[in-house]
Amino acid sequence: MPTQDQLKQQAAQAAIEHVLPLLRPEDVLGVGTGSTVDLFIDRLAAHRGDFRAAVSSSERSTRRLRAAGIEVLDLNEVPAMAWYVDGADEIDGALNMIKGGGGALTREKIVASVADRFVCIVDESKLVDCLGRFPLPIEIIPLAREAVARALRQLGGQPVLREGFVTDNGGHILDVAGLTLDEPAQFEAVINNIPGVVCCGLFAISGADVALIAGREGVRTLRRAW
Ligand code: 5RP
Repeated sequence: MPTQDQLKQQAAQAAIEHVLPLLRPEDVLGVGTGSTVDLFIDRLAAHRGDFRAAVSSSERSTRRLRAAGIEVLDLNEVPAMAWYVDGADEIDGALNMIKGGGGALTREKIVASVADRFVCIVDESKLVDCLGRFPLPIEIIPLAREAVARALRQLGGQPVLREGFVTDNGGHILDVAGLTLDEPAQFEAVINNIPGVVCCGLFAISGADVALIAGREGVRTLRRAW
């Protein structure tokens, strides 16, 4: 039985096989954050001559990309990007996701929004029928912490401050358990409207386009239905 780490390696390898043949030498690749993406970056090093550069969603991934010899561009220099590759904390069959376990959700959502296609790489433990078992990360402006927490309690959530954690943007994270997320896109819009929220870890208004899900029987590919 493969370990979770072995499955993450299979998902990372599947992303290389899915995306690299489609990348042109002038293309910029969007790169997410997390342990699965770290494995993807490690494999990307061998292909660094096949594309122009990367845009990164975190300081952590930027360091790893540069250590692999891959140029990292500022998103402001990049008007278009064909592909964005990232992991997720949960994904459902419609390719809605919860992200932000690593705290990089805001930059992830921004970089993903510039890309034409989002490829999500996960092991099968992340695939769920309904999102919400994983507490929903929400990045907030620090002075709005209690105001946002009260609004989230009114929505049925139990927000907990991620103690001692500061995002790459200087924000704080509330991890919110107890939410009913059966209408994830509607819920994402509600959270986005709370003053003081920088970014909601639901990626449902714009989810993944392709999910590469590594399991005991190999890597399954799910595509978003349009
Ligand atoms: C970081 C994220 C990650 O994609 C998510 O936490 C999954 O990480 P891992 O690949 O380590 O399981 O959203 O903000």
